[in-house]
Amino acid sequence: MTFTGWLRSLVYATSADPFQLRDLAVGLVRQAGDLLRRERSSELQPGTKSTPTDLVTVMDHKAERLIVEALEGQRPDDTILAEEGSSRQGNTGVRWIIDPLDGTVNYFYGIPAYGVSIAAEVDGTIVAGAVYDGMHGAVHEAVLGHGARSNDIPLRCSNASTLAVSLIGTGFAYSAARRAKQGDLIAGLLPAVRDLRRIGAAALDLCAVAGGHLDGFFEHGLQPWDRAAGLLIAAEAGARTARIMDGDEELTMAAAPGIFDELREALGAAQ
Ligand code: IPD
Ligand code: CA
Ligand code: CA
Repeated sequence: MTFTGWLRSLVYATSADPFQLRDLAVGLVRQAGDLLRRERSSELQPGTKSTPTDLVTVMDHKAERLIVEALEGQRPDDTILAEEGSSRQGNTGVRWIIDPLDGTVNYFYGIPAYGVSIAAEVDGTIVAGAVYDGMHGAVHEAVLGHGARSNDIPLRCSNASTLAVSLIGTGFAYSAARRAKQGDLIAGLLPAVRDLRRIGAAALDLCAVAGGHLDGFFEHGLQPWDRAAGLLIAAEAGARTARIMDGDEELTMAAAPGIFDELREALGAAQ
């Protein structure tokens, strides 16, 4: 490598430029997504995590390894928060938040609604994010303050203005006790909306809000890797987003601005 090349790679390895971070995230979700598509076999060697319904497969780990090894090679001093455990502390102020396979249950059953989500946070603010959509082979991405795109086409949330004719996505936790509460909540909401969808991959749900394929989305108890990139993409596509403490749980919301307040009230969540 020439001296200039070496210097450039050194600068790149610590740069906090959101566009560079976005480009890296886009490349990595694509590579991990291709791996998930290419290598899905019946040998998924499923195991369980927090509860018997909370699956993890050999492919969750393989995808995480691919992403984390690439980051360690290119940006060895960044912090990493990765769902399957390869987290580490760095010192650059940049933190990568990684869900190597969002929608593991879908992936396991062969339902093509799954994704890969990578967000880049700089000094506590998410500045860039990318989500690979396995169903469409598409990459959704955003840079803070610079809009959101799907395969380079700008994303825009819907212009819904009435909850009663809005299509709302949600998701359920793996814990049975939490699910019982989520069931009670949607029993009340169902008569008040056009319909509900439970697609099974929160990162994709948030991108669906970004693209106007859902008018709104909410879920209690999401983890940072489920929501970090998707919330930025939804917000950059014009959706209103929030993380609200609701009792002892955090409620994640993203919705067309015209229905956000109505949805929040219907969920009984304080501002
Ligand atoms: C899950 C999915 C699901 C959501 C769960 C998440 P995972 O992520 O996003 O849609 O309802 O809360 O845990 O386990 O497939 O990465
Ligand atoms: Ca997830
Ligand atoms: Ca996951």
